[in-house]
Formats: sequence, structure tokens, C-alpha cells
Amino acid sequence: MNNAALLKRYRLKPHLPRHVAIIMDGNGRWAKKRRLPRIAGHRAGAHSIREIVRLSGELGIEALTLYAFSTENWKRPKTEVGLLMQLLKQYLRSEVEELLRNNVQLRTIGNTEDLPAEIQRELEKAIHATAHCAGLRLVLALSYSGRADLARAAREIAKEAKAGKLDPADITEKTIAQALSTADFPEVDLLIRTSGEFRVSNFLLWELAYSEFHITKTLWPDFRTPHFIRALRDFQGRQRRFGGVESIVGSVMSWAR
Ligand code: FPP
Repeated sequence: MNNAALLKRYRLKPHLPRHVAIIMDGNGRWAKKRRLPRIAGHRAGAHSIREIVRLSGELGIEALTLYAFSTENWKRPKTEVGLLMQLLKQYLRSEVEELLRNNVQLRTIGNTEDLPAEIQRELEKAIHATAHCAGLRLVLALSYSGRADLARAAREIAKEAKAGKLDPADITEKTIAQALSTADFPEVDLLIRTSGEFRVSNFLLWELAYSEFHITKTLWPDFRTPHFIRALRDFQGRQRRFGGVESIVGSVMSWAR
């Protein structure tokens, strides 16, 4: 089905968000409700990822950033961290074919050097295999912290200044945006958070400045096509003013990047 037919089928208007970011929360509660181990919730969450990635690509969304593992998540019990890493490895191994079929390019943000070596290898393989894909860019935030990314960007900019390559007086918002790990992607137009929590949890702190928020009580493993379409319709119903007074349709806040 082509994009126009899909939009019609889901009763969506043409102006979709260019970049959607998701805080996938509630896997543990989903499992607890079913008296299952927490990992069963994460496993079910991986199925939601598969469905939302495919749909995002089909709709023509340019980038989808998923908060898969925060720096704070390292504080979880060792067994849960280990099982999450196993799941990530399985996902990377089993999904490459599906990503290629759907023309999805895999990218990461975060301190991926903190991940176990075998996961880093799987990631490199999947990133390399999908590098030519020109459809959706799927960005996995792994060992990610918004504050850490801002601090890293500040260090990089300071180094340039110290080397005499940059006058501190010339540092603008664009300089910072371009030093962040998200520099390659369009502005985040829509942030979705599942499981009903009203928190940003150290995710994309700079990038969310003008994003629309969609918070749903649905737990991540239950978040599938109808929920995503609802979030997109919610976005399309918003009046985006970016601090001004006139309503702007869709995403026009992108930097010249
Ligand atoms: C939060 O649920 C979810 C995460 C820790 C990250 C998301 C992880 C997945 C969807 C697993 C699969 C990921 C990949 C990339 C294959 P929670 O455990 O905090 O839920 P709770 O708040 O209900 O306890």
C-alpha cells in the first residue's frame, strides 16, 4: 500500500511528524499484571517495536528514536540488565532482515561503548548492513543520557574553542545542536510516552524544546498500530506556534541541517 492510501486508511492528514521519539515504559507492569517475570514484558515490548518501526517506515516518517536503555537502567538488578542485553542481541540478529526489507537504516545514540563487547559487535554489523537504506532511520538510544550528551557536546565545543578554531562569541544554538548525537536527524516533532508517567527521564533534553507530547496510559507491550495512529492524529490536531502567535502546520522548525 502506498503512503497516500495508508493515510486514507488511517484517516490521517498529510502532515506527519518528521521525527517521532518514544519513551517505551511499562514493560514491568505489563508482566506483573500477568504474573510473569519482568523479562516477559520486555520481550512483548520488542514485538511492539517491530510493529511501530514497520508502520513508521510505511507512513514515511523520517526518524524514529526509541529510548531502549538509559544510563540509569544500569542500576537495575544484574540479572535484568543481562536479560535485556540478551534480548537486544536477539533483536539485532533477528531484525536485520526485516529492517532491510523495509528499507530502514539503523542508528544509535548514547554511550554504546559501555555495552558488552558482543552487543557492540552486533550493533556494528546491523548498522553496517542497513547503512544504504534510505527509508526510516531507526535510532536506538542505548546507554543514553540527555545530560551526558549535552556535556559531551560542551566538551567538544570547548576543545574547538581552545584550539582556536571557534570564537566563543560565535557559539549559537545551532553550534550546540550540531554537536549533539542527534545532529543528523530532523527536529523531534512528537514525543510519545507510554504507561501514563509525566516525566522526560533524561531523554533528548535539548531536542524536546518544541516537541508535542502524547502521554498514554497504555503500557508499551500493548502499544500497537491503533495507539500509534491515535498519537499521530493527536499530533495533527495540535496548533504548533513555536513560541509565536501564529499556528504552523507540521514540522517547520528544523535547523538548516
Ligand atoms: C521500560 O519498562 C522499558 C525499558 C527498560 C526499555 C525498553 C526495552 C524494551 C522495549 C525491550 C526490548 C528492547 C529492544 C531494543 C530489543 P520498565 O521495565 O521500566 O517498566 P515498569 O516501569 O512497568 O517497571
